[in-house]
Amino acid sequence: MEVERVQAIARLSARLDTIPVEFVRSEDEQPGSTTYHGPVPKIPVVDLGGDDREKVAAAVVEAAEEWGIFQLVNHSIPPVVVRELQRVGRAFFELPQEEKEKYAKKEGTLEGYGTKLQKEERGKKAWVDFLFHNVWPLARINYAVWPTDPVEYREANETYAKHIVNVVDELLRSLSVGMSLEGYALKEALGGDELEYLLKINYYPPCPRPDLALGVVAHTDMSAITLLVPNEVPGLQVFKDDLWFDVNHVPNALIVHIGDQIEILSNGKYKSVLHRTTVNKDKARMSWPVFVSPPPERIVGPLPGLVSEENPAKYKTKKFKDYQYCKIHKLPQ
Ligand code: SIN
Ligand code: FE2
Repeated sequence: MEVERVQAIARLSARLDTIPVEFVRSEDEQPGSTTYHGPVPKIPVVDLGGDDREKVAAAVVEAAEEWGIFQLVNHSIPPVVVRELQRVGRAFFELPQEEKEKYAKKEGTLEGYGTKLQKEERGKKAWVDFLFHNVWPLARINYAVWPTDPVEYREANETYAKHIVNVVDELLRSLSVGMSLEGYALKEALGGDELEYLLKINYYPPCPRPDLALGVVAHTDMSAITLLVPNEVPGLQVFKDDLWFDVNHVPNALIVHIGDQIEILSNGKYKSVLHRTTVNKDKARMSWPVFVSPPPERIVGPLPGLVSEENPAKYKTKKFKDYQYCKIHKLPQ
């Protein structure tokens, strides 16, 4: 069966100046009426480059506790590396449709080019197409699902992945120390060098009714931690203090989401944040999240050093793949 891509729906919608009904969110979700435009709080900006390493680590910890989302500046990934990642990703999405379809995700697999087929709980669809593939560790990479056009695609993604691995190591160290644990505690609990890095490219085509549609519906990430770069088109929104508001993005900053697995390991000290994305009337928005997750069989629960009689476990301990299954099928955890 041929899958209808949002990119194609968007072209038709632009001519009709309207969107199909399954993309019109229910009223309590429509960004046009649920986005707060008053004086909005700004997500923390953490400078990773400072000389005082303790201070840097403390800033990471505070942002993860208070917000669960923050942006990193001076993260040491050269801007040219990010720009190249973005250039090749955009080039892929601008290929003729039949070229992209060569990478179409097969049913039952995660990696590949895709569009969500099933409607969401409330019968709605998200205004987005995507490409998923693992980027690390080497043993988990399947180059058959990596685009070969443009030819620089592989090198750009490999280079970015190498840099991201270092940034994640540093964040996990800071977050471990912030819980008075050894620096390696979180990484070890998440599977050590078997930690999996899954890249998603989100492609949100222009949408004639950005007030009615959502790119990605409200969710928390089920990963341990997610590092993301967007293109220049805003759209990420965060829910805090009962309000949805636009995230301010500092050019070249990496956006970090604390995911569910770190919230669980930390027994709730660090927060996995609720977020969603809006779309733009005239421009394609794109984003490149890397989801960093434990291997499927890894058992994750509140770290033993953190639970006691006074501070009992707030979450169940289970295999990551079982957590994933429940989350995807909206079953209780
Ligand atoms: C997501 O949270 O799944 C996407 C975030 C973004 O596009 O900024
Ligand atoms: Fe997300």
